[in-house]
Amino acid sequence: MSLPKRVVLVGPMGAGKSTIGRMLAKELGYRFLDSDRIIEERCGANIPWIFDVEGEDGFRLRETAMLDELSHEDRTVLATGGGAVMRQENRPILKRGATVIYLKTSIDQQVERTRKDRNRPLLQNDDPEAVLRKLFSIRDPLYSDLADIIMYTDKKSPRLVVRQLVNRLNPKTPRHKRQVRKEGRNHV
Ligand code: S3P
Repeated sequence: MSLPKRVVLVGPMGAGKSTIGRMLAKELGYRFLDSDRIIEERCGANIPWIFDVEGEDGFRLRETAMLDELSHEDRTVLATGGGAVMRQENRPILKRGATVIYLKTSIDQQVERTRKDRNRPLLQNDDPEAVLRKLFSIRDPLYSDLADIIMYTDKKSPRLVVRQLVNRLNPKTPRHKRQVRKEGRNHV
């Protein structure tokens, strides 16, 4: 089976990067890495605290350093934070030897999945939906540009998404064994 050295998941808050990443790593026999969680472990503080004390800029510096470090780890699935594509210098880092997957998700789903979340500082305001919309309009082209695979996740269980991703990542799987037919060149 010919698999990429590394798999990187990008996409907005609420796309399911961590859940799907963990399951995908297990399926591939790869190690799962979650850049936000590793930043928190190293820092000994959670992301809201980092935003409070160091501002978003401080968090972004930590994020770039973390992505750079983790991009040298092979046989890994890396879940990134939703803003990882924003700094230009991050993009070649994310791409380094990796197959990049954009988990594309509607605003409605993002709103639903982040509704009760208190760990995302950018959404702690009166109108998180408006924030998600604005971020989507800026970031969607960046995610799409970077991605080797764009995977829609709306109305799909994580298990189905993972199965479809395994099929895309391992094109040598005989067609009759593929559970889900590929739809389009770059979209599933
Ligand atoms: C952010 C997304 C978060 C986290 C931070 C900033 C963003 O990660 O990195 O709160 O800018 O979209 P998730 O996408 O895992 O929620």
